Amino acid sequence: MRQEIERAKMAIMKALENKRVAVISGGDPGIYGMAGLVLEVAEREKANIQIEIVPGVTAATATAATLGAPLMGDFVVISLSDILIPWNLIEKRLRAAAEADFVIVLYNPQSQGRREPLAKAHEILLEYRSPNTPVGIVRRAGREGEETIITTLKELLDHEVDMVTTIIVGNSTTRIINQRMVTSRGYDF
Ligand SMILES: C[S@@+](CC[C@H](N)C(=O)[O-])C[C@H]1O[C@@H](n2cnc3c(N)ncnc32)[C@H](O)[C@@H]1O
Repeated sequence: MRQEIERAKMAIMKALENKRVAVISGGDPGIYGMAGLVLEVAEREKANIQIEIVPGVTAATATAATLGAPLMGDFVVISLSDILIPWNLIEKRLRAAAEADFVIVLYNPQSQGRREPLAKAHEILLEYRSPNTPVGIVRRAGREGEETIITTLKELLDHEVDMVTTIIVGNSTTRIINQRMVTSRGYDF
């Protein structure tokens, strides 16, 4: 982390020396990962090289699978990290998503180790959603030490989150079925 530009430049330089290079990026490299930066650096360096992007399992789907089926309808992914984009834009996106009843997946809930962005997001979400809205919190999805919590929006801040945590906030059709978080697609049966 924090050395992304150097890593991308080094990879492009090695490729220009006719080496086969792999840039490793957690989850899906095209979702808050290294794919975009590598393409941008290649453009800047005018590097005429072949670049293949291999998709992976992103935290949103890895997390959803451990919780149940919370992403069965329209959902959005929002990063709470304000390192690369300003907080007022994050807030605008949170409000729009909350108002439009999307299920909301929160990446980077602990930006730079700060709890403040999550506390602000929580306050905003409560303006639009019931305090009883189901919320899933997953640490280290698919890795050793995986932890899964199903709680409510009201109690979201009572739980531990860190940089390897993803949070899924349900919408008005999300409910708990046998301790799994499920968003209804609307089937009539
Ligand atoms: C910079 S983003 C990288 C996302 C990654 N490219 C992906 O597709 O999952 C880092 C954020 O992804 C989420 N994340 C990554 N790995 C995770 C895991 N194993 N379990 C839960 N969340 C994870 C966390 O929200 C973390 O703060």
